[in-house]
Amino acid sequence: SQAVGLVGWRGMVGSVLMQRMRDENDFSLFEPVFFSTSNAGGKAPAWADGAGPLRDAHDIDALKSLPIILTAQGGDYTSEVYPKLRAAGWDGIWIDAASTLRMKDDAIIVLDPVNRPVIDAALQRGVRNFVGGNCTVSCMLMGLAGLFRQDLIEWMTSMTYQAASGGGAQHMRELLTQFGLLNASVRNLLDDPASAILEIDRGVLQAQKDPSLPQTHFGVPLAGNLIPWIDKDLGNGVSREEWKAEAETNKILGRGESFGSTPVPIDGLCVRIGAMRCHSQALTIKLRRDIPLDEISDIIAKGSAWAKVVPNERDATMRDLTPVAVTGTLDIPVGRLRKLSMGPEYLSAFTVGDQLLWGAAEPLRRMLRIALG
Ligand code: HSE
Repeated sequence: SQAVGLVGWRGMVGSVLMQRMRDENDFSLFEPVFFSTSNAGGKAPAWADGAGPLRDAHDIDALKSLPIILTAQGGDYTSEVYPKLRAAGWDGIWIDAASTLRMKDDAIIVLDPVNRPVIDAALQRGVRNFVGGNCTVSCMLMGLAGLFRQDLIEWMTSMTYQAASGGGAQHMRELLTQFGLLNASVRNLLDDPASAILEIDRGVLQAQKDPSLPQTHFGVPLAGNLIPWIDKDLGNGVSREEWKAEAETNKILGRGESFGSTPVPIDGLCVRIGAMRCHSQALTIKLRRDIPLDEISDIIAKGSAWAKVVPNERDATMRDLTPVAVTGTLDIPVGRLRKLSMGPEYLSAFTVGDQLLWGAAEPLRRMLRIALG
């Protein structure tokens, strides 16, 4: 069987990826060669029967010998190693979780349940770079695949509620540390049922504003707060996370000027909230025509095997349409479906997705299977 180089398999995304690949028996299909940026010569993971010692992830000659490399090591690694590898004449398939190469003309953004034809056509014409999409974009498309496939969306806004994990493992730890310290700062008052709630509130605010509250990763407290800015400031009022929605969605779908068609406008505000690893989004969709709600539900439910329509009712919504309900599953629930008061072509929707699964690991392991043929 073919050899596949694995880089960045120990980090948060990499660990989720390895677990999914083990669950799906992917390792029976290829010979894994594990690389490390810090521990070359060390042992391969115990579960990988017969894998050799860790290779140096900066050793271009070692990487060059592999027909396929899959990396979840991050953007800095890609920026440093990928150009050297191609410059050395490597012609293999590069599968990457980082955003570095995503928008390049010679790279495809992979989300095969949505864009398998785009992927297949690219492989046919010799494209060698396959990159996972932004987590918010991938999770949204997995929910709305049916509507996009039938070209029913004229434009859309996406207002996001993004989890701490999007920043990385350290961000999740920081959020939990903040929650713990806030709780500790008012614990005695909380334990006393007769204490005044406004006194508790004052205590929490004081702890949130105390410069000693750990906040190096988020820059401000996230616990009991929210941050309406994610990723870089592009200088035009738009955050880089917001810019990705339209740019990446259209590229995934094979739409836009470079494909000789008009892009679907998608824009909105991206907000960090204190959830752990599920990104949620409130969508306003302008449909191309008035379609009855039951038909819309049907199209969404049939759009992918993972999209699940949640009835637009209180109990079902509270039970099934939350980060806690979705974490650790591949389900992409889509709910709060109703026509807005602006008119019958205006649809609201709310969707939730595990940003480490469909948002990161899952499209990569599926692309690896496609590449292996
Ligand atoms: N940029 C995303 C976030 C995660 O910060 O939530 C990576 O796609």
